Amino acid sequence: MKKKIGIFVGSLRKGSYSKKVAMALSSLFPEEYEPVFIDLNDLAMYNQDLDDEGTPPVAWTKFREDVKVLSGLVFVTPEYNRSVPAVLKNALDVGSRPYGQNVWDGKPGLVVSVSPGALSAFGANHHLRQSLVFLNVPTLQQPEAYIGNIANLINEEDTIAENTMNFFKVIIDSYIAFLEKNS
Ligand code: FNR
Repeated sequence: MKKKIGIFVGSLRKGSYSKKVAMALSSLFPEEYEPVFIDLNDLAMYNQDLDDEGTPPVAWTKFREDVKVLSGLVFVTPEYNRSVPAVLKNALDVGSRPYGQNVWDGKPGLVVSVSPGALSAFGANHHLRQSLVFLNVPTLQQPEAYIGNIANLINEEDTIAENTMNFFKVIIDSYIAFLEKNS
């Protein structure tokens, strides 16, 4: 059976650069892996009362079940105000609860940050890593994946520049080696 790799994109925007990068990355996995885009659109903001009262929204329960079966986690995120967009942080929070039932636990992760700006969403990349430490997600350290000036790396047909695709291949190959070592 193929190993499912969850792809989590920190942008809900139709024309999202992060989504385009995530698609490009997902096309580079060898065939033993199945990249699965996990939809964050319907996840209501986390409210602990709903878990405590035994009435979690259906979307939370489905999300938690979807994450549990994954062999690996790929996070592709833009930066909002030098941090992680709320939609992605909320997904981490929903998956981390109820207390003691953290669905992220131990799954090898990859963090890729994307920005039209020159700072490459460094702040979001590292704020995300901070949460992943607490969630016990071992994360690929090298190569670091900061994708800056993205608007210049992608054309109107969504084709990504060849040298950038070559770098993406290095990222995915390194992540797979890391995942196999840590599974
Ligand atoms: C941004 N943007 C942004 N960019 C950046 O490099 N650092 C930042 O701190 C911010 N802050 C920020 C806040 C908010 C609320 C928005 C909406 C945008 C710009 C951002 O990088 C740009 O809109 C990207 O195109 C968003 O990513 P997607 O949707 O293209 O994946």
